[in-house]
Amino acid sequence: MKRFTLLTMAVVAGAAMAAQPKADIAKGKEIATNICAACHAADGNSGIAMYPKLSAQHANYIFKQTKDIKEGKRTTGAAASMAPLVMSLSDQDIANVSAFFATQYPKAGETNPKENPELGARIYRSGIAAKKVPACMSCHGPSGAGMPAGGTDIVAYPRLGGQHKAYIVQQMQAYQSGQRTNTIMNDIAKRMSDEELNAVANFIQGLH
Ligand code: HEC
Ligand code: HEC
Repeated sequence: MKRFTLLTMAVVAGAAMAAQPKADIAKGKEIATNICAACHAADGNSGIAMYPKLSAQHANYIFKQTKDIKEGKRTTGAAASMAPLVMSLSDQDIANVSAFFATQYPKAGETNPKENPELGARIYRSGIAAKKVPACMSCHGPSGAGMPAGGTDIVAYPRLGGQHKAYIVQQMQAYQSGQRTNTIMNDIAKRMSDEELNAVANFIQGLH
C-alpha cells in the first residue's frame, strides 16, 4: 500500500513538473493583440483559411503547438512564417496567451451542402468500418469541442469544431505524409482517401 502511494505521488509530481507555468490571462491578451492577432485575429476566430482558429482551443494544446512551431518541430503549411514572431516569447508568455485564447468564444463556419455533407457527418460520427477508421467524435467530441487529456504524450484532444476546411485537409495530408507526426493521427489519415478527407473536413467546418 505504502509503495503504491509513493509511486502515485511520483507520477503526479512528474506530471506537474512537465506542466506549463501558471497563466495570467490579462498578460496573454496583450500578447494576442500585439502579435497573434495579425494572423489568427484578436479573439482567435481567424477569417482566413490558412490561419487556424484558436478560439476555445485547449490551452495545453495551444501551448504545445506554439512551442513546436517556435522550435521548428512543426513545419506544416506556413508555420515557418509564424516561427520568427514567437521566437522571443518565454514559456510563461506562451502559457499566458494560450490561456487567453482558450477562454475566447468560438465562431463556427458553415458546412457546404454541395460537398458531401452526409459522408462527412457519417465519418465524423461513425468512422469508416471497412477501413478501420474510428469515429472522429470518439476523441474530438460530438460537437467538435475536443477533450482535455494529460499525463501522457497527448496533452489534449484538440477542438476541431468550426475549423477552416482547407486547414483541416492540409493537416490530414501532413499526417498522411508524416510531415506532422502523431501516432494516432498518422494511422487514421493514412487509411483515408482524398474524397473522405474533404468530406469530413467540410462537415467539421460547420460543426459546433
Ligand atoms: C505571420 C502569421 C502568424 C502569426 C503572427 C502567428 N501565427 Fe500561429 N500560425 C500561423 C500559421 C500559418 C499556422 C498554420 C500552420 C500550418 O498550416 O500547419 C499557425 C498555427 C498556429 C497554431 C496551431 C493551431 C492548431 O490548431 O494546431 C497555434 C497554436 C498558433 N499558431 C498559435 C499562435 C500564437 C499563440 C501566436 C501569437 C503569439 C501566433 N500563432 C502568431 C501563422 C501565424
Ligand atoms: C483516438 C483518438 C483520435 C481519433 C479517433 C481521431 N483523432 Fe484527430 N487527433 C487526435 C490527437 C491526439 C490529436 C493531436 C495530434 C497532434 O498533437 O498532432 C489530433 C489532431 C487532429 C487534427 C489536427 C488539429 C489541428 O488543430 O491542427 C485533425 C485535423 C484531426 N485530428 C482530425 C481527425 C479526424 C478527421 C478524425 C476522424 C476521421 C480524427 N481526427 C480522429 C486524436 C484522435
